[in-house]
Amino acid sequence: MYKHSTRRMSLLDRVIIDLDRGLRGLGGASGAQGRENPAGELSEAELTPAQRRHAAGLMRVDHTGEVAAQALYHGQALTARTPRLREAMEQAAREEGDHLRWCSQRLEELDDQPSRLGPLWYVGSFLIGAAAGLTGDRWSLGFVVETERQVVRHLDGHLSSLPPGDARSRAVLEQMRVDEGVHATTAIESGAAELPQPVKRLMKATARIMTETAYRI
Ligand SMILES: [Fe+2]
Ligand SMILES: [Fe+2]
Repeated sequence: MYKHSTRRMSLLDRVIIDLDRGLRGLGGASGAQGRENPAGELSEAELTPAQRRHAAGLMRVDHTGEVAAQALYHGQALTARTPRLREAMEQAAREEGDHLRWCSQRLEELDDQPSRLGPLWYVGSFLIGAAAGLTGDRWSLGFVVETERQVVRHLDGHLSSLPPGDARSRAVLEQMRVDEGVHATTAIESGAAELPQPVKRLMKATARIMTETAYRI
């Protein structure tokens, strides 16, 4: 239905429809690919209360990262110049939807909750993604490459910071790390341009604000 009536809708209509879709999907229930949670039947670790809080803080940051990743892809899909790139962005967004769901399931297992600022992260990231898309497909793909590279490095940090016995969180983050690497490689193969250093630095600074806030709230 969305695709059918696209031509008759204004950009603002599409922004509102997309935001509505994204905000409904924050729990990861919709807009996902439906892949199995990689934690599967792995047994729950014996964590001290402090370890559990720390693991939950990390998973809350990662959940927030996935909200932002999905929102960026939705925004980039909206302003993509070609149907091919739009479909690629939508496909990646669905994969981020799986990550989102796995992180929210793990948070629940740890008796904790996602960031209360989720809607804010979604809307902000959606607008950044839409703006990136407006700069043209090669730059938009360049933005994907840099985002995903930063996410991979970030996940490496979290994998070494997780409580050693927390195999369920680890399995989720490891699968996400593999998928983010594929997202970056696919974007490179599709003709991504290399972003200028100042843009990369700005992206890092933005991500740092988000991660530091989401660990707590
Ligand atoms: Fe992801
Ligand atoms: Fe990704």
